[in-house]
Amino acid sequence: LGSGSRPRDLAGRRVVVSAGGTREPLDPVRFLGNRSSGRQGVALAAAAAARGAHVTLVTAHVEGPAPAAVDVVSVQTAAELADAVQSRAAASDVVVMAAAVADFRPSARASAKIKKSEDPSRDPVVVLERNPDVLAGLVADRTGAAPVLVGFAAETGDETGSVLDHGRAKLARKGCDLLVLNEVGETKGFATPTNAVTILGRDGSEREVAETSKDVVADAVWDAVVPMLPPVVP
Ligand code: CTP
Ligand code: CA
Repeated sequence: LGSGSRPRDLAGRRVVVSAGGTREPLDPVRFLGNRSSGRQGVALAAAAAARGAHVTLVTAHVEGPAPAAVDVVSVQTAAELADAVQSRAAASDVVVMAAAVADFRPSARASAKIKKSEDPSRDPVVVLERNPDVLAGLVADRTGAAPVLVGFAAETGDETGSVLDHGRAKLARKGCDLLVLNEVGETKGFATPTNAVTILGRDGSEREVAETSKDVVADAVWDAVVPMLPPVVP
């Protein structure tokens, strides 16, 4: 989809998109990370800019270049991402949480590189503590947040339910307005140029987007967001 064929239906809107995987340091050279490429978040930011929005991309670790025409705020950890998103949420129309935010961080961060000792019985044990849930924080304080809040979820089916069951439950639990549900598996979702999603709405709506480019998925997400936006304040 060329930008020329896109509607300018986000003109005058401020959007914040978070993208990529956070990195939680263990010491100055090591971190706990995840396999998110960040490409879906980058595609969302680029699509919003092409549709006329003022876009802030809060980017954790992302593969490839940032899009043109967006403000980029680089972060490493979930705590930094939380600060960057929260401080901009009140002045925004939409926050899209496409980032893969680490649920846990090492509870201690060594100030010097961790070394092996002679005695293997003294090998370190990593203790984790919980990170703040950024999306839950925005939902809990709606007055200080953007009017439209979009979450992402990557799920697999299991014995307790299908991908869709897990997605519907997560939307209810998270309380956001839209949840972009992604089925993940060995060949799906991560580090591929394509994506297939179902966009679940708070109103019970469900739009399926069959496997396509992350750019087309991004436009489908904005198509779902636009009708939920309050009138533009001139
Ligand atoms: N999220 C967040 N802050 C976190 C973790 C997740 O804002 N600390 C956001 C993600 O960016 C995503 C949504 O919450 O938009 C759902 O993330 P997900 O990891 O699927 O949900 P969790 O509530 O962490 O549940 P799970 O135990 O399945 O990981
Ligand atoms: Ca999680």
